[in-house]
Amino acid sequence: MNLRPRHYLTVADLDREQLLAIINRAIELKKRRKQGIPHAPAVAKVLGMLFEKPSTRTRISFEAAMFQMGGSVSFMPSRDLQLKRGEPLKDTARVLARYLDCLVVRTFGQEIVEELAKWSDIPVINGLTDQHHPCQILSDIMTVIEHKGKNLSELKIAWIGDGNNMAQSWIQAAARLGFTLVLACPDGYRPDYNILEAAKAEASMPIEIVADPAEAARDADVINTDVWASMGQEEEAEARKKIFMPYQVDSALLELARKDAIVLHCLPAHRDEEITDEVLEGSQSIVWDQAENKMHLHKAVLEWAMGLWPEAQ
Ligand code: CP
Ligand code: NVA
Repeated sequence: MNLRPRHYLTVADLDREQLLAIINRAIELKKRRKQGIPHAPAVAKVLGMLFEKPSTRTRISFEAAMFQMGGSVSFMPSRDLQLKRGEPLKDTARVLARYLDCLVVRTFGQEIVEELAKWSDIPVINGLTDQHHPCQILSDIMTVIEHKGKNLSELKIAWIGDGNNMAQSWIQAAARLGFTLVLACPDGYRPDYNILEAAKAEASMPIEIVADPAEAARDADVINTDVWASMGQEEEAEARKKIFMPYQVDSALLELARKDAIVLHCLPAHRDEEITDEVLEGSQSIVWDQAENKMHLHKAVLEWAMGLWPEAQ
């Protein structure tokens, strides 16, 4: 009997225990790497990476993760595949599954990763769509745990800016893992209503959308932001600058948070747009740890997806 592959397309695909197991595994794998202990469970495995948008961190951290684990990677910009000449996703998925052990996809609509997963006999992992960035959120929470401890329910996490893919994955994570999330977004740029309502229905802690960034930032343990115009929204960038300017994370906004608050940004950052240079380079910013953790987290996700970590559920 063919078991369904372990796809990871949104945070809500996994239950609380699975999410925490992956994060804890990433913390353990990070420790091993720092101690110089080799860890190569992926020998002879091949990861495919089908990317339709640019990437520095997600691409290179998945590649480094796979190489360090003894496996190989085939990077496939979509423009170089027959996909670009009209070959259907369902045919592409079935062919790739005959060569590869796992597929990471970065693309536009969520329906594209869903279609690939539907037809794929190997795990499909979402490396960012217009709607979700589920691996990023897990490495961000890993970073929060490293700096703030494991009691997530005691934390207030603030999201300042666009209700985009990152915001929507944070919302799903808040519901599954149980922490307070307050998002400050301008009218018209709030997260998807259905994602928000589904999360609120299962959440044990508040998930709120407000208009005022100060309300979100006040007494927050974590201040989190992202670009105002995501990939694919380049034509809106100028118009968005005016709308989002009151949502800039600057030192005055950071002052409202707890004294020991940390600042997250998934990067790439646009200095002096969504975040000032002063805050990004300041002592509360942990964005470089955050970027590093993507690699450790991706190892754990790959192990889980490919069944290389026997204790994983
Ligand atoms: N944070 C993140 O996903 O960065 P890249 O776009 O560089 O992969
Ligand atoms: N919201 C951003 C995240 C980049 C990692 C985008 O989609 O471009």
